[in-house]
Amino acid sequence: MRSLLRSNTLDVDTLYQLIRTAQGFVDAMEKARATGRPFHNDSLKGKTVTTLFHEASTRTRLSFELAAKNLGATILPFPVEQSSLKKGESLEDTLETLIAMGVDAVVLRHAQDGIHLELDKHTHGRLALLNAGDGMSDHPTQGLLDVLTLYQQAGYNFDDLKKLRLGIVGDIKHSRVVTASLTLAKKLGVQVKLHAPDALAPSPATLDRWKQELQLKDSPEFDLETLLAQVDVIMALRLQKERLSASETPEALEALVQKIQLTPDHLARYNRVKLMHPGPVNWGVELHADLAKHPKSLINQQVRNGVAIRMACLIWAL
Ligand code: NCD
Repeated sequence: MRSLLRSNTLDVDTLYQLIRTAQGFVDAMEKARATGRPFHNDSLKGKTVTTLFHEASTRTRLSFELAAKNLGATILPFPVEQSSLKKGESLEDTLETLIAMGVDAVVLRHAQDGIHLELDKHTHGRLALLNAGDGMSDHPTQGLLDVLTLYQQAGYNFDDLKKLRLGIVGDIKHSRVVTASLTLAKKLGVQVKLHAPDALAPSPATLDRWKQELQLKDSPEFDLETLLAQVDVIMALRLQKERLSASETPEALEALVQKIQLTPDHLARYNRVKLMHPGPVNWGVELHADLAKHPKSLINQQVRNGVAIRMACLIWAL
């Protein structure tokens, strides 16, 4: 059993393998849909997967559960609010209980940065722990579904992926998605540029680390238009209002929106550029409301890819 704790521990060969496996599932599920036959795969028959979400989620939790179901596993959702966690039981004891019951994999989302690394020390080898988002740190399966989407944009070709130029814009400071997507895209050779106003920019320490560890070349681009002129795909990030300081005034927020919001006009003028967003979208904030259902949007494709990549991750882990 293997745990998926951090994006930066995935090597390039593993990335290729996960992307190829996931693309195979995308194709197989598409074919099943087209022929009206149910998709069937029993790779994880007899395995039990628990989803333990300490923070809100729609896409990540449901796609993990659908992924487990598609592979014939038993899904055991964990209702945090009605569990003994609310009586003060520790997560370590909770995981021991799940192991005693024969659970094979736990998909965990938690507000505490780095908690998966801590917990994996306790459960090591007895349970596959999959990180579904920790605090502002990481979200490896989101990064994976994003690089799968980029791979499809590059014509299903890993060499052409190295020619692809990705811009990431918005709340870089508070986003865990950016760490995952940037790390994995850079590992695969994608050229990545960032744009964020000062209040949403990564700290100098984080930026230095990215420059050293990921060979990120440039500092965040000051101007959104300049960035749009230089990329093939633009990924907007959700403005993380729950993580912004309460002292931000509505006027300050509005000024931020002015600097980051992508509009239909941008996509019309930079005709080559496709749009990504991890969801959930704040319509009218980081994306103009008229971009919902825009032909250049890859957002639904990302969601579809999310199921396939989580199938590949569960197989890899188990
Ligand atoms: C993200 C998350 O929770 O990190 N959502 C997701 O998993 N697709 C992004 C976000 O909440 O902004």
